[in-house]
Amino acid sequence: MKGSRMETPREMHVVRVLAVRRENPSTVSLVLPKTFEAAPGRFVMVWDVGGAEKPFGVSRQTATETCVTIRAVGPTSESLTRLQPGDAVGIRGPFGTGFALAENALLVAGGVGAAPLRFLAETLRQKNMAHKWLVGAKTADELCFAADADGIATDDGSRGEAGSVVALAAKELARGHYAILQACGPKGMLRAVKALAEQAGIPAELSVERIMRCGVGLCGSCALDDGRCACREGPVLRFG
Ligand SMILES: Cc1cc2nc3c(=O)[nH]c(=O)nc-3n(C[C@H](O)[C@H](O)[C@H](O)COP(=O)(O)OP(=O)(O)OC[C@H]3O[C@@H](n4cnc5c(N)ncnc54)[C@H](O)[C@@H]3O)c2cc1C
Ligand code: FES
Repeated sequence: MKGSRMETPREMHVVRVLAVRRENPSTVSLVLPKTFEAAPGRFVMVWDVGGAEKPFGVSRQTATETCVTIRAVGPTSESLTRLQPGDAVGIRGPFGTGFALAENALLVAGGVGAAPLRFLAETLRQKNMAHKWLVGAKTADELCFAADADGIATDDGSRGEAGSVVALAAKELARGHYAILQACGPKGMLRAVKALAEQAGIPAELSVERIMRCGVGLCGSCALDDGRCACREGPVLRFG
């Protein structure tokens, strides 16, 4: 009977792109007419029709739309960033663990790692939960969602504070009262955020977007030093 069929997260939905927003020279957001039970931090698989599918964090969700934000770094992501409104794309999910919705959270994003944190910041704002979110990148051209953030850092000083976003987070931690650090970005940045949380004596939740091969905890390509696998236990893992 139409309408009574249960959807499974593995089911691929081919939809038409509603809108494309350019976030910076190498990154676009695709607005798709599909919604999921996608808590901030969870991801969807996006299929470049006729090509490969790759995981992408949900960067915004409304009552009718899901947004993913894609940086062109290789063949599939480059092809996806060339999509235009009306083009077909596949999407299935949601998968993985999400961020906790916590009071007094300090959100720290590096580059396109801002994608899941934008969804988290918007969710916290809607719920009137105290938080601040900081975005950083190597250069102004690699920043994502800087206009929405509470603080900006660039390694070369081309926008916001000069230096790493982790240094900016350390300053913010010294100024305010924070209960948790939540971060997504490159490996080195996440390592520094984890050390910062340990120093401050607060927990950290890190979205560890490792390269995934088997996706079921067997091959070890996404394994962390503590034995957890980003594919099976992540991408959002709690430390402390
Ligand atoms: C859970 C999860 C969520 C993700 N969310 C996003 C997102 O919101 N936005 C986004 O742009 N990308 C995200 N990614 C990365 C994305 O899935 C693809 O890996 C990326 O777009 C590259 O795919 P490609 O086929 O274009 O290039 P590939 O040929 O696969 O890779 C091109 C280059 O990028 C490097 N690379 C590939 N994947 C990663 C990775 N995950 N981490 C670090 N380096 C990598 C490769 O080593 C290679 O040098 C996420 C990955 C995971 C696992
Ligand atoms: S992708 Fe193989 S263990 Fe995670």
